[in-house]
Amino acid sequence: MPSEFPLFLLPMLVFNRVLKLITPFELVAISLCSKKSKMFCKAARSQLQCKNGTKEFTLKFFSKKEIRLKFEYYPSMEWVFKLECFPNINNSPPQRRVLQKFISIFRRNHQTPSYTRVTNDLFINTWVPTEDDTTSENSLQLFTTEECQTLNMNLFILHLSDILNVPLDTIELHFQNYIQETNERIIDLYFPDDEEKPAVKSLTLIGKHWNTPEDDEVVDSLLRRQKARNKLKLLTRPTDEFKFNSEYFQNKSNQLEMSHAHWVSFSEFLEMNTVEISLFNSTFTSDHLKLLFAKWNSGWTPKWKAALIEFFEAVDIDQCANESNLIDSFSNVRVHRQEKIKRNQNEETKLIRYCLCRSDGKLGVVSLEGDTQGYFHVFPDVTLNMLRFPHFYQ
Ligand SMILES: *[C@@H]1O[C@H](CO)[C@@H](O)[C@H](O)[C@H]1NC(C)=O
Ligand SMILES: *[C@@H]1O[C@H](CO)[C@@H](O)[C@H](O)[C@H]1NC(C)=O
Ligand SMILES: *[C@@H]1O[C@H](CO)[C@@H](O)[C@H](O)[C@H]1NC(C)=O
Ligand SMILES: *[C@@H]1O[C@H](CO)[C@@H](O)[C@H](O)[C@H]1NC(C)=O
Repeated sequence: MPSEFPLFLLPMLVFNRVLKLITPFELVAISLCSKKSKMFCKAARSQLQCKNGTKEFTLKFFSKKEIRLKFEYYPSMEWVFKLECFPNINNSPPQRRVLQKFISIFRRNHQTPSYTRVTNDLFINTWVPTEDDTTSENSLQLFTTEECQTLNMNLFILHLSDILNVPLDTIELHFQNYIQETNERIIDLYFPDDEEKPAVKSLTLIGKHWNTPEDDEVVDSLLRRQKARNKLKLLTRPTDEFKFNSEYFQNKSNQLEMSHAHWVSFSEFLEMNTVEISLFNSTFTSDHLKLLFAKWNSGWTPKWKAALIEFFEAVDIDQCANESNLIDSFSNVRVHRQEKIKRNQNEETKLIRYCLCRSDGKLGVVSLEGDTQGYFHVFPDVTLNMLRFPHFYQ
């Protein structure tokens, strides 16, 4: 029998100190003991600390559902709540025990699995996490009934949001695990049309294998429905028939990332209205880089501020800069070339950078890392970046 620790009898100052030291799972467990304990857990850290400290708060839909959390103060660890349904045979919740003594929750070596209630119809049988060293994952198993799992999960997410002082941030949807209707229902639930209802900020769509034509249809439907304001990440590979549609990104997001951007044409890319764009596996070539140089130098400014492009082929940025006739026909553009070696671990890559300062004061920085990774940054006013680009002031 483990000796019990009178946590709630600690002096307030000490109790608060303890709350700052315990793991996120322990914090959640304590917060569920009583209204008062929840209040203390919520107040343990300031709102700003919570906001800065929460690096990930994701609801993941794959074959199962999971809530994934990552914190600055436990940088290498992921805290995962896995949702499981009670076996269908007797689909009634087991003994409905109320949380009693805090210590009993943390006792190791449970002989018989007995369930304690977490929220409404969500149960847990042990608060001792399963640790996976290979993935640095700490997980707890939650149980619920089949029919109310979304509702129960959402009530629990609200509880987490409340004590962590941050809303659910990302939906990670492995859409190939579900039929179209289910996918649509998930997106509509977390990205509602109703302005009053808070939407989740970011969406990650993941395809385990390359799309079939049916998968393309699902992706098309989801892209039209989603309203991710912060980050939209598409880790899926549509077929070659998949076409860009301006409706997809009409609700401007801050960041857009695609692992397979072969379906985005260069002109569609130029017109995009997202602050930061990352296009991997694009079909763009040296000719497109030349065009980008030429367009910038002739006075065009994109709506985006930064773009990362993985080119289709090895490109020579010097040649592109030269052939777009940088120096001759655009004499009003001041050009500065930089070259450096970037070292990460054992690899060395060459980084070449062209800073192009236009007479309207706008600065475009085009860089190439290695053979294929291109970057483009737009600085609307070079005078605000004097320290970064001193060569335009010598
Ligand atoms: C939170 O982050 C902001 C900006 O990154 C920083 O200025 C502030 O000091 C941080 N606050 C805390 C409490 O860590
Ligand atoms: C999203 O786009 C629709 C259609 O353009 C527009 O009516 C709506 O106001 C936008 N919502 C947000 C949050 O930007
Ligand atoms: C580019 O495509 C390949 C092949 O599908 C894939 O393995 C790779 O992860 C993609 N690149 C990125 C950055 O996602
Ligand atoms: C580009 O032009 C500059 C000067 O006009 C020249 O020194 C340089 O060798 C050229 N580079 C390439 C790759 O053509």
